Amino acid sequence: MITKEQVEAFGAMETPFYFYDMDLLHRTLDTYKTQIDKYGYNAHYAMKANANDRILDAVRSYGLGADCVSGNEVKLAVKSGFDPQKIVYAGVGKSDKEIKAALRAGIFSFNCESVPEIRIISQLAAGMGRKARISIRVNPDIDAHTHKYISTGLKENKFGISPWAFQDVVDLLAQCPNITLLGLHFHVGSQITELPVFALLCRRIEELQQWFIAHNVPIANLNLGGGLGVNYQNPGGDPVAHFEDYFETIHKNLVVRPGQQVHFEPGRALVAQCGHLISRVLYVKVGREKKFAILDAGMNDLIRPALYQAWHDIENLSSTGRKMRYDVVGPVCESSDCWGQKRLLNTCRRGDLVAIHSAGAYGQVMAMRYNQRDLAKAVYSDDLK
Ligand code: LLP
Repeated sequence: MITKEQVEAFGAMETPFYFYDMDLLHRTLDTYKTQIDKYGYNAHYAMKANANDRILDAVRSYGLGADCVSGNEVKLAVKSGFDPQKIVYAGVGKSDKEIKAALRAGIFSFNCESVPEIRIISQLAAGMGRKARISIRVNPDIDAHTHKYISTGLKENKFGISPWAFQDVVDLLAQCPNITLLGLHFHVGSQITELPVFALLCRRIEELQQWFIAHNVPIANLNLGGGLGVNYQNPGGDPVAHFEDYFETIHKNLVVRPGQQVHFEPGRALVAQCGHLISRVLYVKVGREKKFAILDAGMNDLIRPALYQAWHDIENLSSTGRKMRYDVVGPVCESSDCWGQKRLLNTCRRGDLVAIHSAGAYGQVMAMRYNQRDLAKAVYSDDLK
């Protein structure tokens, strides 16, 4: 919830900008940390969700590690003070340069997505006289019941190694003295709100790890990835993701063997709700059939609605006028630059401040300069106090 005082402070600011409610971020991180400590789990923040320095600082202060998907993310994680021993690195297309830099940084685990990748990591590690710790990212062929662009665990997806290739991996590892196998990694998709998906994942993990045990390959670590969803429909009423139910589901369904460590890679669930994209109404265009509220924030600032038809709650922060239906759109020259159709908002006037909620994850990080637009800056609630 954005307070009256905060809205007043926004009055003097140039829009659009991202506003981060740091109290909510800390509340979310507190809840998360309590839950992982309860079960003795490890967490690596998926920094692709939001890599702003202040957000990274906050996350790191709770002792979390970092989940990276590029060499630059690994670099940034190290620079931001994340313990390299808590950095994991996934991605189907790691370049030689990226692999070498991660080897030099001494990261905890490369989460490997193909047999040829393992071969290259082994060669590069041998060339540098180092050992690489790897985990096998497994494609468990599970339907995450989420948008097809953010489903990653189905057999037709590009991610992970399918069970039919396990024997090839084991044969290869036998020839790679420079590689230590840490365990198995999974990530089946994002914005998953149905907990049975995670229960199914746990059962699938057990089936899959039995294959390795039967082949005398010890699995010391199980990494379940991220994916827990947030409430985009009612961010004000339900601001903290349901970590308690999530971890209870995992705890009940995952078979953990003595000495095994369990890892997670939360992204969205930690940072989505603390971020809001704040914009102003530029014009209200009244048509025969509908009214358009035209904002100064566009798809270049937050691409989720245009790219995934994602639904974000929109609120007129300035007006208390009676509610009307608007098609809320941005200024970019694309029809898909639309924030929402037939949205019920307090009567909009030029200059009203409008918040697009739940924008903390995959918002600012995915912003671009299309139409040569400026990048929206970040404002943190701490700085308004
Ligand atoms: N681990 C891996 C290997 C991942 O690929 C991802 C996200 C995560 C963890 C974190 O997932 P989360 O907890 O945030 O669901 N841009 C899209 C989401 C892409 C997710 C990519 N991978 C969106 O705006 O919905």
